[in-house]
Amino acid sequence: MDYLKVIGQKKLQGSVTISGAKNAALPLLAATILSKNKITIDNLPIVADIKTLLKLLEMLGSSYSLDKSMLQIDSTSISKTKATYDIVKTMRASILVLGPLLARFGHCEVSLPGGCAIGQRPVDLHLKALEQMGAKIEIKNGYIQATTDGPLQGAKIIFDKITVTGTENIVMAAALAKGTTTIINAAKEPEVVQLCEVLKDAGVDIQGIGTNEITIQGKNQELLNMKDFTIIPDRIEAGTYLCAGAITNSILTIQNARADHLDAVLSKLEQMGFMIIKENSSITILPANRIKPVNITTTEYPGFPTDMQAQFMALATMADGVSIIDETLFENRFMHVGELVRMGADITLNGTVATIKGTPRMLYGADVMATDLRASSALVLAALVAKGETNIHRIYHLDRGYNKLEEKLTNLGASILRGKEKL
Ligand code: UD1
Repeated sequence: MDYLKVIGQKKLQGSVTISGAKNAALPLLAATILSKNKITIDNLPIVADIKTLLKLLEMLGSSYSLDKSMLQIDSTSISKTKATYDIVKTMRASILVLGPLLARFGHCEVSLPGGCAIGQRPVDLHLKALEQMGAKIEIKNGYIQATTDGPLQGAKIIFDKITVTGTENIVMAAALAKGTTTIINAAKEPEVVQLCEVLKDAGVDIQGIGTNEITIQGKNQELLNMKDFTIIPDRIEAGTYLCAGAITNSILTIQNARADHLDAVLSKLEQMGFMIIKENSSITILPANRIKPVNITTTEYPGFPTDMQAQFMALATMADGVSIIDETLFENRFMHVGELVRMGADITLNGTVATIKGTPRMLYGADVMATDLRASSALVLAALVAKGETNIHRIYHLDRGYNKLEEKLTNLGASILRGKEKL
């Protein structure tokens, strides 16, 4: 197992290029199941979660070739319809093959994802919506067994809660269903928008893209003529590097970023005293005279993303005053708190609310444990400003979602090395 050794308090400077969005790439790879032709996908982020989904698609019968961040994938030859436990257990987003497999083949089996570090994360809303579209769903031996008689049927789906992968699963299922599907209370995340746009380019009539009501005219099991496309930049990776600039109070430019996807994050950085300059596809952060405390409530897009909560908590430890962070989406997404406290942070938790008493330059190096993907990046950020050396263990969580993290941070001036744990 790998760990990261970070020597803190190095000033960062320069620019860093943001990779493609993992959370856009995952549903888009799953959507290739709906295609009748080979597709070239550019700006694919090469991170562990993407490799896992490619492995799953390969097990189902897809073939692909990868040249740096350019993927050629042919999912026309898929013949198997079972997503097995060993794959799904390593990545919950494997659930994204459920909608497209069922829509194309009329049957599939997908291992039920278990709980995960950040909360229980059920998939009941995905299943209920597919049932409304005519699927028969049984849970047997830990598997979701789904079948339909003929094509899925268009339906009016009202999600009780806004769900990102739930919306994506149903959009993909609806693309091949018979008739019209309307999703009410749909997710509006940029990753959902790109999925809808790629399906629209493939000939599916989709209205209401980027709103909370999406209407899809199904193609009645006729496979789609998908066009080549480029994955949008990763707004969470971009936000994480902006926080690296902020926490070290450095001038830092991120390239290949979409400022319009980062409004909530940029606005919080500005409230904390940082100046933000947006230019075409780059964003520059300038140091703050005084890092001010901040109040944050995580919500669905376009609100403040839960995937940036841990990074802002690390940043808030450096603020001059008390910050409050309310996590409304995942019940257990505070695993980084204990680790930040090991590094000297003053954080108290009360239910979903964390109170962070910031003091500039209070953190010191320690041995800490990564517990989930974004919690891991918060520990890296904290380590960048901590006095002395921090060793971050279990960084396989980090590798799930950050492309070339050490290389990118080293190029910016950080001292960060990957090592192998001694057993
Ligand atoms: C996606 C993102 C993840 C992000 C999250 C919220 C991907 C691959 N992952 O996860 O990075 O943190 O959105 O922005 O895109 N819920 C239910 N029943 C369901 C589905 C969801 O109760 O069937 C609940 C969840 O427990 C959670 C809330 O709804 O409290 C939102 O979850 P959801 O949007 O579904 O998250 P994911 O799509 O899994």
